[in-house]
Amino acid sequence: MWKGRFSQDTNEAVINFTQSLDIDWRMAIDDIRGSIAHVRMLGHVGLLSGEEALLIEKNLCLIAEEIRKGKFVPKVSLEDVHMNIESRLIELCGPTGAKLHMGRSRNDQANTTVRLYLRRELLEIWEGMKDLISSLLKKAEEHSEIVVPGYTHLQQAQPISMGQFWMAHSHAFVRDAKRLFDAYDSVNESPLGCGALAGSTLPIDREFTCRDLGFASVSGNSMDTVAHRDHFMDVLYFAAVFGGHVSRLAEDLIIYFSAEFGWVRLPDSFCTGSSIMPQKKNPDVLEILRGKAGQLNGALVELLTMTKGIPLTYNRDLQDDKRPLLRTLECLHGIFSVLPALVREVEVDEEAANRGFSDGLILATDVAEYLVLQGVPFRNAHEKVGRIVKYCIENKKPLTSLSLEEWQNIIPEVKGDLLPLLSPRKSMERRNTLGGTSPEQVRAQIRNLSVRLIMFDQEAKGFMENMPEDC
Ligand code: ARG
Repeated sequence: MWKGRFSQDTNEAVINFTQSLDIDWRMAIDDIRGSIAHVRMLGHVGLLSGEEALLIEKNLCLIAEEIRKGKFVPKVSLEDVHMNIESRLIELCGPTGAKLHMGRSRNDQANTTVRLYLRRELLEIWEGMKDLISSLLKKAEEHSEIVVPGYTHLQQAQPISMGQFWMAHSHAFVRDAKRLFDAYDSVNESPLGCGALAGSTLPIDREFTCRDLGFASVSGNSMDTVAHRDHFMDVLYFAAVFGGHVSRLAEDLIIYFSAEFGWVRLPDSFCTGSSIMPQKKNPDVLEILRGKAGQLNGALVELLTMTKGIPLTYNRDLQDDKRPLLRTLECLHGIFSVLPALVREVEVDEEAANRGFSDGLILATDVAEYLVLQGVPFRNAHEKVGRIVKYCIENKKPLTSLSLEEWQNIIPEVKGDLLPLLSPRKSMERRNTLGGTSPEQVRAQIRNLSVRLIMFDQEAKGFMENMPEDC
């Protein structure tokens, strides 16, 4: 395309090194759709005659057809999807086709193409998020009455409802969903018409192409637009944080599934065996999920590093921006292909979970709070209960087995009404503060997040309706 200025052919290795066809060819239909908007605009402002605009649009649709049927074999020598499609257009409609690229550059064109591709991808990611969060909410409902240990420092802390556990993870994923929609907003801006960097001397109409492609707004500065990749970073940041949340959920389940904890059951269909140890049932799926955070964080760091210190405006470093992005999308699709289904199958062995409570010490905070209600300042209550805990450990007695006399020997403020409160279930049910672990609170959380889910989904449907018609 630039043969006019050059007197040597491009080196063979350079052709392979500089091509981006291997990543952008999958965006061919989006590229064509962007070109159609451009051509319609050129017709609208009179830079193309009505017939010329129609001829180009018709032939672009024809090329889309060839691509869909797998009949278009792109050439690496043409560097990228954009050049391949343009040269095919010129092949098909000659000098008129050669008019397509007026008033734009590959810098704003490629930018437009990826944004069109990303919008659809992000809505698919939303479908995965929705599936995951719905599965968690269902599990929370199913397990709202099941009592299990809650941990801090991975030490038994207080009894919780298993529903509260699922809701804790759900809240994290709902925050991720918010980040996903924020990223969508960043992506949903039209760069078309910024040209190479400074706009155009031709009377192009950026608002027209923006409307035709269903973007929410036109970008504000031509130089900034072709130079930045913040919208990619927003996507990768969402994905990295999400990856951390997935990793944590996976780790929790792996721990609870181990023989030493042993109160979570995973389906055989989501586990694998060992080639040597016949007894093994390994949580490999969860382990792979746990490790995905590495790829997702890596992609974010890759892009942050790549873009740091690039002078305004477009530089070829930016061509590789799509690699971490596509790897991330693929990784997310992989996560959604197994995680929601796995969550649906997790079962809890409540009896095994409660074996861990046998010393009753997990109820110590409940006793301290009981004393507070008897008028004992909390610090004193804490110390008194500490003495009881010590007594239980030294005498190898479960806290729940002490007689009223034993209690009163150490803490005179204790009355008979304490003893019926001392069960893990009571303890869990009585933590009924807003956002707390009681089944009532868990159900309230499920209702709240269900509403959030519906609202996000309506937003996604709105985006879907604004998508331009296909070519
Ligand atoms: N293939 C390139 C990309 O993906 C297109 C932009 C090339 N622009 C340029 N000025 N060489 O970014």
